[in-house]
Amino acid sequence: MTVNDVLTVHGGTPLHGRIRVRGAKNLISKAMVAALLGDAPSRLYDVPRIRDVEVVRGLLELHGVRVSDGAEDGELVLDPANVASATSDEINVHAGSSRIPILFCGPLLHRLGHAFIPDLGGCHIGPRPIDFHIQALRQFGALVDKAPEGMHLTAPNGLHGTKLELPYPSVGATEQVLLTAVMAEGVTELRNAAVEPEIIDLICVLQKMGAIIKVHTDRVIEIQGVPRLGGYTHRPIPDRIEAASWAAAALATGGDIEVLGAEQVDMMTFLNVFRSVGGAYEVTDMRPPRAGSPGQEGKIRFWHPGGELKAVALETDVHPGFMTDWQQPLVVALTQARGLSIVHETVYEQRLGYTEALNSMGATIQVYRDCLGGTPCRFGRRDFKHSAVIAGPSKLHAADLVIPDLRAGFSHLIAALAAEGTSRVYGVDLINRGYEDFEAKLAALGAHAERA
Ligand code: EPZ
Repeated sequence: MTVNDVLTVHGGTPLHGRIRVRGAKNLISKAMVAALLGDAPSRLYDVPRIRDVEVVRGLLELHGVRVSDGAEDGELVLDPANVASATSDEINVHAGSSRIPILFCGPLLHRLGHAFIPDLGGCHIGPRPIDFHIQALRQFGALVDKAPEGMHLTAPNGLHGTKLELPYPSVGATEQVLLTAVMAEGVTELRNAAVEPEIIDLICVLQKMGAIIKVHTDRVIEIQGVPRLGGYTHRPIPDRIEAASWAAAALATGGDIEVLGAEQVDMMTFLNVFRSVGGAYEVTDMRPPRAGSPGQEGKIRFWHPGGELKAVALETDVHPGFMTDWQQPLVVALTQARGLSIVHETVYEQRLGYTEALNSMGATIQVYRDCLGGTPCRFGRRDFKHSAVIAGPSKLHAADLVIPDLRAGFSHLIAALAAEGTSRVYGVDLINRGYEDFEAKLAALGAHAERA
């Protein structure tokens, strides 16, 4: 953290205005990795300027992929014509900065026959093991050697299709299997796969490259390996986590925010909860241009309609459940709801630590080890504080806050904007990992905030 990595926030002003979200962070980074598999350039649109994109770009460039900006704002061209090995020292420059490097395993094994993966980073929201990834790679025939400086992989006999069943529908492990199976010899059957919209969009990317992937019912994905893949041209799904974060900011501050680019279909679960809490929204569908009509950008307007917000019980879950990444921003709005709200976090075992900061601002949030308000989850018997009871409404007051991770960081920011008085939010640069131009967007929404 640097001395400038502090935002002074003068809270108490409802956010009003319009901002735009671009392509989903959690698809873009994976689509960039997929470009490594092709033998022709790929073109990706709507890429936000965020740190995670920079990290993946850096790693791709190290491996010989030429990455350049296209003619359209947010367009990236990725040319894998000269894929080459990088040294572990070069790769290690990116150690600890993101979790995406783990997804380079399959593509690098296919292209180079070996891979080195640095120590991973990403948000500190629990242990975040990679055992499913390693198990899957070994089943494809990879030899995985874990060393203190990172992970060395080879595939002396090539990679072969296999039958796999994930212990839990992990997003990353499903992507690992997809990115490896598409060019493995033979057929891969993946059971208990994650089916988040970002994964379906990655499947669309791979299909455009020439892959054969069937998504069956009941979380079963079948991939028929092909010997070569080409490039793709893709416009990604919008960032539904960012859209929900601004929606929560509108509700918590009593404001009104139009999120250009947001789409209803992948936010249905969020929209149901938003309405149950007492928030209002209006969807405007995207309309493509036709002869004589210019077309229209899709958007969702979110606002606080006045009156009291209502407490809700919710449980985070894999898709189509309520996303774990929607939880932290929404909890700030729940501190303003009358009654007892219950949040049962079932995806990550330690994703409620940020509630302490909200309590320091006047919120009343108690965390529990039990699985409250829903079905028992994996963490109930393992002594993790993964349920929260939020008593409201609470008047929030200003505080000094230190941002712990990306989504909790955004929730701290919303809390500071909703609170009376002047807060200092330390470590705000972390928010740039996943929210493009968030300070400019705050200014556009009428927030009073300045550096240091
Ligand atoms: C992705 O993380 C997202 N990150 C996360 O968003 C998101 O919260 C998460 O999916 C769930 O939707 C990216 O896409 C870059 P998982 P990922 O594997 O793939 C356990 C954000 O802020 N698990 O689905 O790492 C794991 O511990 C980030 O944008 C294992 O036990 O998540 C967790 O409890 C934060 N072993 C659960 O599965 C493994 O090998 C789900 O994790 C892998 C995962």
